Amino acid sequence: MRVLFASAEVAPFSKTGGLGDVAGALPRALARLGLEVLVVTPWYRSVPTDPAPYWIGDVEVPFDGGFEPVGVGTLERDGVRYAFVGHPDLSRPRLYGYPDDARRFARFSRAVPQVAARVGFAPDLLHANDWHTGYLPLLLARGWHLPPGFPHLPSVFTVHNAQHQGESEMAATLHWLRLGREAAHGYLDRFGAANALLAGVGAAERVTTVSPTYAQELQQPEYGFGLDGAFRAVAGKLVGILNGLDVNEWDPATDPHLAARYSAGDLAGKAANKRALARELGLDPERPLLGVVSRFAEQKGIDLLVAAAERLLAAGWGLALLGTGDPRLEAAVRALATERPGAVGAVVGFDEALAHRVYAGADALAVPSRFEPCGLSQMIAMRYGTLPVVRATGGLKDTVAHGRTGFVFEHATPEGLLWAAGEAARAYGTPAWREMQLAAMRQDLSWDASARRYAALYGSVLPS
Ligand code: ADP
Ligand code: GLC
Repeated sequence: MRVLFASAEVAPFSKTGGLGDVAGALPRALARLGLEVLVVTPWYRSVPTDPAPYWIGDVEVPFDGGFEPVGVGTLERDGVRYAFVGHPDLSRPRLYGYPDDARRFARFSRAVPQVAARVGFAPDLLHANDWHTGYLPLLLARGWHLPPGFPHLPSVFTVHNAQHQGESEMAATLHWLRLGREAAHGYLDRFGAANALLAGVGAAERVTTVSPTYAQELQQPEYGFGLDGAFRAVAGKLVGILNGLDVNEWDPATDPHLAARYSAGDLAGKAANKRALARELGLDPERPLLGVVSRFAEQKGIDLLVAAAERLLAAGWGLALLGTGDPRLEAAVRALATERPGAVGAVVGFDEALAHRVYAGADALAVPSRFEPCGLSQMIAMRYGTLPVVRATGGLKDTVAHGRTGFVFEHATPEGLLWAAGEAARAYGTPAWREMQLAAMRQDLSWDASARRYAALYGSVLPS
């Protein structure tokens, strides 16, 4: 089976969060099952140059009422083929966050079939991810200006996060995408605007999301970000498949970023990682250490943690915080670290190596999310014997068992978080803590089972 996989970020080439991890690991897991996968992704300025994608030329892409060239680069790694779409609009310092993001990713989406055809890949189906590539299932269903083999190609669309939907002005969007006016009256339309996420949800043969609980939550007004009705309408083709982890990349027994390596069989090295992290962040190594590795966004409940911080410190915790995002949250976190040296250490930024050191060096990891489609950080923490303290939502609820592999609270309030942190503090240093660490570390968090579920789902959309 040949799968065309489209994603706005793909680790290790680009990453701002879990989408990058998933688009990196899932295609490799599918390749191990014998599927052929071409991953198409933007050629951002940050794409590493060692090895650099091999530039093979330009293709003409139907866009903006005409045809425009984009550059194509390719690379093969771990049994997966990658194609990079080069264009000045995509090559900017950051991946996202520009006022013309909808137009940038409309162009990218439009390029995907042309680029696949250019590298000689004839897919059996498309797997698109999140709003950036949500236009694609619709484009394939409408079938204009597509290379041979692409009109009516079946598609699977995965919602990693329903908060980000990619809305833009309808007439302009139809013009960019070279879609006829009748497309304005289908799933693309949300109250007169063009909504990329909705287009993918409506046009794909199957819609998946990244945990069973989030598949249910999406259908509720509290979590659907205005699309709960649409998710209820497509419930018959919607399924939640839990993400896995790349257990080779995230392995405390081999992790090159750690001060000492360790495993469930020999946890001794974990203490050395804690000492090293405490030294690095100027923290008291005697305190139990609560870590955070997160985007600083409303979704993640970082404000709840900030509001609870004084009481967490009073209860004896030290805090090791790594993240970036909302400037107000960044300022609040920086202020905490300045006011409470020795008890709070913070690094504002995106730092892959430090993330590994926090997962290994902290005793517990706080993930107080308001919503969490799946969440990878709690899974990474468990693999590193660092017990997650999480809110009962989405994938957090599906992956962490209270009192067995972590601590789970119901209400998105500072008090909810404090309650669970209190439970954690009570267990800390007792034999129960060690048992929980081992239970957390010994779980199978790999992609194997979930990749097989995707493969079965792909099989179900192929013409019989
Ligand atoms: P989301 O995709 O919503 O951000 P996930 O938990 O699924 O949340 O994935 C987050 C990924 O990004 C994890 O691999 C985490 O380690 C990483 N990450 C988040 N913030 C940072 C940061 N500031 N520095 C390094 N890695 C980070
Ligand atoms: C999104 C979600 C996160 C999920 C990730 C990968 O960024 O916020 O919960 O783990 O996608 O699917």
